[in-house]
Amino acid sequence: MSEPLRQGRVAQRPDDSALSGRTADAVRPGVREAIKLDHVTKSFDKRKVLDDVTLEVAEGTGFCLLGRSGTGKSVTLKHIIGLLRPDAGHVFVHGKDVPELNARELAEVRRSMGFLFQNSALFDSISVGENVAFPLRRHTDWADSKIREVARAKLAEVGLENDYGKMPADLSGGMRKRAGLARAMALDPDILLVDEPSAGLDPITSDEIDQLLVDLKKGGTTLVVVTHNIPSARHIGDELAMLHDGRLIARGTAEELDRSDDEMVRAFMRSEGGG
Ligand SMILES: Nc1ncnc2c1ncn2[C@@H]1O[C@H](COP(=O)(O)OP(=O)(O)OP(=O)(O)O)[C@@H](O)[C@H]1O
Ligand SMILES: [Mg+2]
Repeated sequence: MSEPLRQGRVAQRPDDSALSGRTADAVRPGVREAIKLDHVTKSFDKRKVLDDVTLEVAEGTGFCLLGRSGTGKSVTLKHIIGLLRPDAGHVFVHGKDVPELNARELAEVRRSMGFLFQNSALFDSISVGENVAFPLRRHTDWADSKIREVARAKLAEVGLENDYGKMPADLSGGMRKRAGLARAMALDPDILLVDEPSAGLDPITSDEIDQLLVDLKKGGTTLVVVTHNIPSARHIGDELAMLHDGRLIARGTAEELDRSDDEMVRAFMRSEGGG
């Protein structure tokens, strides 16, 4: 299918024990970092939204970012994509310092990433299938027939094989979310950033999306998933981290967070809260 787009994958995966010692250098030597935030601080007006955040995501692993509303989760993702620049600190993607890249280099790094924003903003004026085809038309020189075929296959992966020609306004909220995910996956990105995949989905669809993400990870894709859904984070995440008031207050495997010294972290982990 779109296999030629997959590049630079490493099959190597860290085992869980390697990720359990929480330090800034938690990624095991020999395992490459897909993403690293190094002492990132960001304020809006005078409010510090990210306060000295350091984290790494090893290639081919799932990283789930947790935290209450307004704690800086989406802002963190926007730094990784290069939509926001840190006031201090560095953001690396595949070893490249994202805020320092020129427009062409940034475009190249972004091409290796798929992202699904919180509101899964589809273009309302074009069909669902053309939404998925959009990044393919933009970034490849494939023939129209191939682009349609790949877009159709991506829609099938999220259970929307019959919806190519529909307009986004005619989809349910959950279908829009899935279409957004298909678009994020269109170029077979090495890194997939997803902001709240289960928000607004019924539990069965939500489980299906989780399984899809886990399957992508098995294929080598690095996942960064923002979620309020703890069962989903347990399923997807090799590592979980919790932001609170812009600071990373916990980081580790789900089991480690369950045993955190911090009652708030434990309470968060006990919640079954969907969405
Ligand atoms: N571009 C911006 N300009 C000014 N303030 C911003 C901007 N983007 C985010 N903020 C503020 O930063 C804070 C963190 O926002 P963010 O969207 O990261 O929260 P979140 O953790 O994703 O919350 P939620 O779970 O509700 O999505 C909020 O107070 C928000 O208003
Ligand atoms: Mg958010």
